[in-house]
Amino acid sequence: MPMLKIFVGTMYGGALDVAEQVKPVFEEAGYEVAIFDQPTLEDLTDSPTDLALFCVSTTGSGDFPGNFVPFARAIEEQSPGLASLRYGLIALGDSSYGDTFCGAGRQLDRLLEEQGAQRLGERLEVDAMETFMADDEALPWVEEWIESQQLKVA
Ligand SMILES: Cc1cc2nc3c(=O)[nH]c(=O)nc-3n(C[C@H](O)[C@H](O)[C@H](O)COP(=O)(O)O)c2cc1C
Repeated sequence: MPMLKIFVGTMYGGALDVAEQVKPVFEEAGYEVAIFDQPTLEDLTDSPTDLALFCVSTTGSGDFPGNFVPFARAIEEQSPGLASLRYGLIALGDSSYGDTFCGAGRQLDRLLEEQGAQRLGERLEVDAMETFMADDEALPWVEEWIESQQLKVA
């Protein structure tokens, strides 16, 4: 069974809720799913990752949540090269923060791209000003993502 790893960056748990809600959708599509809520770069690189999904909210002024800082810093410092990685990205933010809206998700997308990873489809940006529960937007997005990117294996 292919392995889907979900990497979570969160302060208040919204992004973790998203990960937990979408997990069964991927299981139904034929994946073994692991959620990392204290992610390290080794979680990504030390065992096969057939597909990755990042669920990352933004804090401060466009900054990564504390639990995600070690992961992002390791990519910057170690420049691991991720050419075989295919991933999706769900960014949580709040447009009332203006220019730094979904800043962490956007920054992560850049870091992954610099390492040669391939994003499948567009990034989803969930705006807390419009969507109270991020899952409400993320769940149908994931279903559509699996369909449009032909990710179903079972
Ligand atoms: C102190 C603080 C700073 C924030 N800064 C930003 C920001 O710069 N850009 C943004 O888009 N959202 C920002 N947000 C909004 C959060 O990203 C948003 O509420 C998100 O849904 C929280 O997700 P979580 O429950 O996974 O932590 C901030 C929220 C707080 C409390």
